[in-house]
Amino acid sequence: VSNPPEDELVDIASGRRDFLKLTLAAAVIVTSAAVGSFLRFLRFIPSPTISGTAEVNANLVHLSWPRIKLVNAKTLIPLQPVNFNYPLVNTPNTLVKLGAKADDGIGPDGDIVAYSSICQHLGCYFAFQSAGSTPLCDPSYKVPTAEGYCCCHGGEYDLQHGGKVIGGPPPRAVPRVFLEYDNSTGDIYATGMSGPTIFGHGPPGTTDPASVLSYDLQGGEIVTSATVFSE
Ligand code: FES
Repeated sequence: VSNPPEDELVDIASGRRDFLKLTLAAAVIVTSAAVGSFLRFLRFIPSPTISGTAEVNANLVHLSWPRIKLVNAKTLIPLQPVNFNYPLVNTPNTLVKLGAKADDGIGPDGDIVAYSSICQHLGCYFAFQSAGSTPLCDPSYKVPTAEGYCCCHGGEYDLQHGGKVIGGPPPRAVPRVFLEYDNSTGDIYATGMSGPTIFGHGPPGTTDPASVLSYDLQGGEIVTSATVFSE
């Protein structure tokens, strides 16, 4: 068998090279088109809707609870509430030394608690009432134990036992402010809040503090030591 002439061998090799170049160019074009389409597709994916805790975590900005010094335990007078803003400048709370050990109470006597002052019924601000006192809006009623009393529709919260509802229409306990007590100085700090949410805006069943925060702090002004007691 005779070998093809040298000219023919050169033509075959050069033809193969051209074919490979063409194949490569086609592959590059197809890949670029695919990447372009994918990017265009990503751009047109609709924003996910918020319907549950997992999606909330994925879609909302991560925020941290501020840690703010409130008062020194030695300056507190039993049953005299201290009002402060937390975690936003326009979300009031009440700290009080109840004079009797409380669930989740802090301080040397375990009787200092703090709760949101925003009623979980329709958002009125409620007031602290000591046992036997009379709400301004209802002179005929003497509250039996120290509690939070809402004058809008008579909502009552037991601040000694987790802020649970003990009267009126509120659908859930009032959120608690997490307090930290410094044994060596007596200083008390606010470090977070319990769920479900401060305004009841979160999705049903949200109790994870991070989700609560993500819901309630969007667009709000987070309190600082300069604004914690401002009006
Ligand atoms: S808003 Fe407080 S009881 Fe209705």
